[in-house]
Formats: sequence, C-alpha cells, structure tokens
Amino acid sequence: MQAFESMTVLLPWLLIHHLSELTPGHASKCVLQNYFEPGLMANGDYVIGGIFPLHYNQEMPDLNCTYKPGPVKCNGFDPRAFRWALTMKLAVEEINKRTDLLPNYSLGYKIFDSCAYPLTGQRSAVAVLNGPNEENSPMCEGAGPLLAIIGESGSAQSIVVSRTLRPFRIPMISYFSSCACLSDRREFPTFFRVIPSDAYQVKAIAKLLLHFKWTWVGVVRGDHEYGRFALQGLLKELEGTGICVAYQEMIPLLYERQRALEIIHIMNHSTARVVVVFSAEGELTPFLRDYMENNVTGIQWIASEAWVTASVFTGSEYYPFLGGTIGFGIRQGQIPGLREYLTTVNPDRYPSNTLVHELWGALYGCSFSSSNLNNHLPSCTGKETVRVQHSAYFNTSRPRISYNVYKGVYAIAYSLHNLIHCTPGKGPFSNSTCANVFNVYPWQLQQYLQEVSFTISGETVKFDMKGDSIPSYDLINWQRGSAGNIEFVNVGMFDGAQESGQELVIKEKAIMWPGHQSEVLVSVCSNSCAPGFRKAVRRGQPLCCFDCVPCDSGKISNKTDSVECMACSEDYWSNVDGTVCIPKVVEFLSHDAMGLTLTVIALVGACLTLAVFAVFLYYRNTPVVRINNSELSFFILLSLTLCFLCALVFIGEPTSWSCMLRHTAFSITFSLCISCILGKTLVVLAAFTATRPGNNIMKWLGPTQQRIIIFCCTLVQVIICTTWLVASPPFPYRNTKYQQSKIILDCSVGSDLAFWCVLGYIGLLACVCFFLAFLARKLPGNFNEAKYITFSMLIFCAVWLAFVPAYVSSPGKFTTAVEIFAILASSFGLLFCLFTPKVYIILLKPQKNTKQHLMGKDK
Ligand code: TRP
Repeated sequence: MQAFESMTVLLPWLLIHHLSELTPGHASKCVLQNYFEPGLMANGDYVIGGIFPLHYNQEMPDLNCTYKPGPVKCNGFDPRAFRWALTMKLAVEEINKRTDLLPNYSLGYKIFDSCAYPLTGQRSAVAVLNGPNEENSPMCEGAGPLLAIIGESGSAQSIVVSRTLRPFRIPMISYFSSCACLSDRREFPTFFRVIPSDAYQVKAIAKLLLHFKWTWVGVVRGDHEYGRFALQGLLKELEGTGICVAYQEMIPLLYERQRALEIIHIMNHSTARVVVVFSAEGELTPFLRDYMENNVTGIQWIASEAWVTASVFTGSEYYPFLGGTIGFGIRQGQIPGLREYLTTVNPDRYPSNTLVHELWGALYGCSFSSSNLNNHLPSCTGKETVRVQHSAYFNTSRPRISYNVYKGVYAIAYSLHNLIHCTPGKGPFSNSTCANVFNVYPWQLQQYLQEVSFTISGETVKFDMKGDSIPSYDLINWQRGSAGNIEFVNVGMFDGAQESGQELVIKEKAIMWPGHQSEVLVSVCSNSCAPGFRKAVRRGQPLCCFDCVPCDSGKISNKTDSVECMACSEDYWSNVDGTVCIPKVVEFLSHDAMGLTLTVIALVGACLTLAVFAVFLYYRNTPVVRINNSELSFFILLSLTLCFLCALVFIGEPTSWSCMLRHTAFSITFSLCISCILGKTLVVLAAFTATRPGNNIMKWLGPTQQRIIIFCCTLVQVIICTTWLVASPPFPYRNTKYQQSKIILDCSVGSDLAFWCVLGYIGLLACVCFFLAFLARKLPGNFNEAKYITFSMLIFCAVWLAFVPAYVSSPGKFTTAVEIFAILASSFGLLFCLFTPKVYIILLKPQKNTKQHLMGKDK
C-alpha cells in the first residue's frame, strides 16, 4: 500500500514521458493521479518548497483498493512545526521586501505537511515537484520553477525526500535532520543542512559522559535512522574511553505499551542511572507518560538535540521526573519580528486555511466560529488563554529550529542572488558561462549553494563539501521555573571547531541535578579500584564491570583504576597497602637488642677468661696450676679470649674486610685453642703412661715438642685459610632471592669447599682430642684433667653439630646469631669445663691445693 501510495504521486512524471514516447500524439494529455494540497503557498518568479511535520502522526492508510485512495489523514497538530513553516513564510516575505537581496525578483513558496512520516514526506516532495492539481501543475506545462526545498525535519523523512529529489538534482536544505548518514555525498548529493551532523553530537555526549565520569550508561532510541545512526556513532565514540553501555533499547515505531514497560523495567533495575535518549518528542510523549505512571525516579536523562528543547515537556507534572535533564541543543538565533508575525496569524485572517484553524484548536482548545473543522471543540469566545503545553509557541525570543529554517531560506536567497548576479564570461559553468536567469536549473543553484557564505545576525552560514554546517551546540539543563514548570537553562557549550580538548565548556555550578541533588549522580558498574588494587574483568561482562583485587606483594598500583600492578625494582618492595615501592629492609645482625646481647655475652666471656688468666697467673706457683703444664693453660686461656672476641666480628654490617676476617679469625683461634687442648691431652696421656716403667715418652713431649705440635696444628689451619683468602675469599653479598621483601646482607663464603675444609679441620682436631681424652679419662689421680677435656670436647662437638643444620637451612640475621651463639657456647663450654674445677680449688678449697691431694695420695 505504501509503495502504491508513493507511486500514485510519482506516476505523472514518469508516465508523461512514457506516453509521449509511445504515443506522441497524446503527449498533451497530462493527468495527475492524486493530489495533495499544500499547507501554505505563494507564487513567485522562483519557487522554493517546504516540507514540515505539521502533524505528529498519521492514520493508518486505508488498505481497501476497491476505490481511489483518499487523501492522507493526519492528526495531532504540532504548533511548533507550524511555527517553522510560518518562519519560512516570513523569511520569504522579508526577502521579497528587501531591495538589496534578489531585487526585481520574487520568491514563492509551497509548503507541505509530511505528518512526521517518511512516505508522506516523499509524497510531499513529489507534490512540490508536481504542483497541487492539474490546473496548477507546472510540470504538465514545462520545466517547473521549483529550485530548492527546505526540509525535512526528521532524518528518516529527509532520507526519503532526498532520494526522491536526487534524480532531478534539486537541492534541499534540512533544518533539523542531523543523522550522520546524510553526510554521505554519494548517496545524498543534493543534501544540505543548517544543523550540525550527529557525528559531532555523539562526540559531545561522549565528552560529557567522560567529564562527569558516567561510565555505565543506558541508551534508549526511537526506531528510525536518526536513532540508529546516533546510537552507532555513540558506541563508536565510546570505544576505548572506558565508558560502557549497559543496555540499548528501542521504542517501537508503533508505540506498544508492553514493550515500553519492559524498557522502563530495565531502566529501573539497571545500575546505570544515566540514560541517553535519541528520540523526538512525538514518540517520547507516550513513553514518558508510562514512565511517570510507574513512578520511576533517580534517572539522569541525557537528551538528544531532538527533544532537549521540546516545549511539550515543560509542564510542571514532568518536573519531578525530567528535572535535571541535560543535553546538547541547537544554537539559538534571532529572527526580528517573528513574534509579531506569529500573532498576525489567526483564523480571522486566514479563514480558508485549515492549518490555522487547527493551530487555534491546539493553542486555545476551542474552534473558531467560522470553522466547522474542529466541531467537537467549544466555540472560541476570544478570551481563551494559550494552553500550557503550547505556551512556548509565542516564546520566540531566541528560537533554535525556526532560526535554522530562516537561515536555510536565506541561504537559498543568497545563492540565487549570486547566481543572478553572475558576471557573464566568469560564471562557474562550462566555458565560464552563467546560468540563464529565465531558466535556472536546480543543479545550477546547487553549485551556488555549495559556495555560499553570508552572515545573519552575527553568524556566518556556509556549507562544507558534505553540505554540513559549522558544528556548535548549547549545553542545556532542565531546571525548575518559577511556576514549577521546566525551564531550559544554558549551562555550557560545545564548539566542534575548537581544537580537541577545548570543545566542551561546562558551567558546572549552574547545573541543577535530578531530584535537586547537589552532587553529580554516580553511574558506574563497579566502583573504582583504590590504589593498591587492580581491576579484574569479570568474564562475559563489559569492561566497566570488574572486581578489585589487591596487588601481589612486591607489586604496586599508585593510581585509582589501575589495570595492572607494576612490579617494584629489585631493591624495592611494596608497602603493606601496595601503593608505593619502598626500599627493601636490609637485614643483617647489627647492634640492635640481639646484637648487643651477644656482644655483651662475648665481652663477658672474654673478661671471664682473662679473669681466670689472672687467677692462674697469681697462683702460678700453686700445685693446681703447676701440675698440668701451666704454659699450655695460659695458651688455652689466651686463645679462648680470642675466640670470644672473634664473635664480635660477626656483628655489624658485613664489609669485605669483616667477611674475610670472620671465618679466618674464628677458624684460626679455634684451631689454636683445640690444638692447645690436644697438646694438653697428649701430655696427660703421656704423663700417666710414663709412670709405667720403661716408658720414657715424656722425653718426647717436652715443652718444645708441645709448642711444635700446637704450632703445626694451627699452621695447617692457617695454610687452609690463606689459600682460601687468596683463591676465593669470602665477600659481602646482598641476597635478594631468599626473602623477596628483604635484602639479606650476608657474607658469601666464596668457596664452599674451603669453608667446609676449615670447619672439617676444626672438627677433626676436636675429634682426635676427644678420642685421646676419652682414652685417658679413667687414669688415676684426683685431678685427672682428661675427663674434663672429654667433657668439654663433647660439649664442643655437640654445639657445632647442632649448628650445622641451622647454618645450612636459612640465611638471614638469625643464622649469624646462631653462628655467634655456637662460638660463644663452645667457648664457654671449654672455659667452664676446663677451668672451673681448678679455679674452684684455687679460690675456695685452698686446702686441697696440695700436691698430695692432687696426686690422690693424701688418704
Ligand atoms: N535531529 C533529529 C533527526 O535528524 C530531529 C527529529 C525531527 C526527529 N523529527 C524527528 C527525530 C522525529 C526522530 C523522530 O531526525
């Protein structure tokens, strides 16, 4: 049916040429298959067409094909669009009056209603071409004077109209069609517009969302090209910005309450509180009615330019639901005299114009006496006031779309003016010719339109190669007016001509948020991750929905919403919160509590040893001291003092010197000490075996030999140590591997073999000593030192055997402490075992300090 409808109007053009080809004799018979009355019309030398959606919608066309289809029935008169049409009329009349623009020529216009419906728009387009009826159809006579069309409003209609006009190369200027799809010059070569393309609007909306950190938004759109392309453009613009679309819903073309309720349910239950709506007031009105019935609040609406300045929503009943809405609106302009002009339009003056009667019905809710059109309405008394929903009709101080219409008409007029005033021989057409003023072709006008540039109330109007105009928007916020109604307040602007980053200017303080909130609403899927955490995307969900996981230790994130945690460099480690890298704790046994305790113990040990030394020195002539080789005892005491003192080298930060000193000093002093003890054991053993007859072993173990033994035993250790120091000495070493959060300052032994050799040698000496002492332990005598030596060696070996596993297992300051502990324990072991009994006798039991007693012969 729709196809049929459009055909009926298209037919005359096609048919005529067809007929004339087939039957040349009948060419003069020109029949219009259907007719379509223009809403407003005036003749002139040049005629421009206008297509406006003077009604909101159209009745379902009659599908019965048993009779000729009647004219289209539209309902829901739209005073706003009628105002646009009147603005066109005003502009044309104004231009006709001017002497500087198109002097001696008059402009005419033909304005048709598209009923906001693409196919009717197409019908209008064809009707503009054809003329309203047979008598008045220029087409049937010759080339029509129609040069250009102002239209259409909705992009969906403009697309159809532009496609219809395309074969005839008639330029059109749209005042409201913003679909980015219309910038395609291959598909719409004759399309111009005085409204910015949505390519800029979606950019602006994306910037707005980003500015207020709304990263989780819903999109609702109408079922038309405008909605489809705007959504597409927005999604593209949002790519990579970190903003996600929670849902995309479409209000069906034929409004369905059930579907609308579903959408409202989704909006209400989504965590996305910000909803971007690409739709126009016509389809939005029933949707918003259902929305309000459901008492949904707390939504931040972002209105597209198509409805952000729609006066139908300014009523106070809308305020609780729509207050705070924000969106980009078309820039305003000034049309001098528009208000006065509008007031002159009344049924009295245009008694036969049904549109004016409808306007009256819509504005005042009454029908004018002479009209029989709105007979269901009461008759007007002349005292009615303008209905609230259309109260904005006369508010024309700074119109937006009307101003676009005005600019469009002027663009045509200026182009035409330029065309007419072309200097012969310098024209733009082939061979530099000008157009024939008496037979201007629309494509010739298009050439001039493309080039035109003029200023109107301070604003330059021109078109780029795609027929688009300069992109610039006002940021509009819906605020509460004095009467509880909604007022559109300018809170910023978007200028697409500025360089990136500076396009959007927002007066944030001036914005009023929904529900009188003082703060910007939060619309995020997941709250942002604090520093120290990273985002972990949830499987199967958009990128904006994530969990926050704390950074692993050793890694940090120092800003909110980090995608990944960064690893700290080698000498650094994360703090507890995972927000900064801090230098790793350097661990070594220092002069802290533990270090100090050990130092004190070592010093006490050394002092004790020296004290014993002093006692021995003082009593050096008493039998207890003399009985067992006093020289060896002094040696042992001195080396023990060194043993205690070498523990001190282990405390403090390891340096290359202290590292080298540590093991060598320790091993040499211990070797010395144990060699002395070994010497002593040998002496004891020799002394007792020598008592047996015929054994003069003592001869071989005189003091010189003893010294040689001690010297040799120690020398071995000295040689091992020298080789070690020369070949691969121990060195300080930062262990970062063992415990990741700490740097362990340690001495590396340099050569493990050398280390174990050194220890092994001490062990060997101790074992030999232990073995010999063990043999001698049962020998008679009240003071047999052998049993004490056995005992001391037992302790010594036990301590060092216990030390080995502790040493091998874990590096760190405790290992050093264990090592010192082993040194101190074994030294104390030796000191106590070997010397307490003697000191006890010397100091406390002097009566026992006799040779007889000691030899066990005093009984
Ligand atoms: N800028 C919109 C468009 O290009 C404006 C508009 C006018 C509209 N009438 C409409 C949008 C009807 C949707 C439906 O289409």
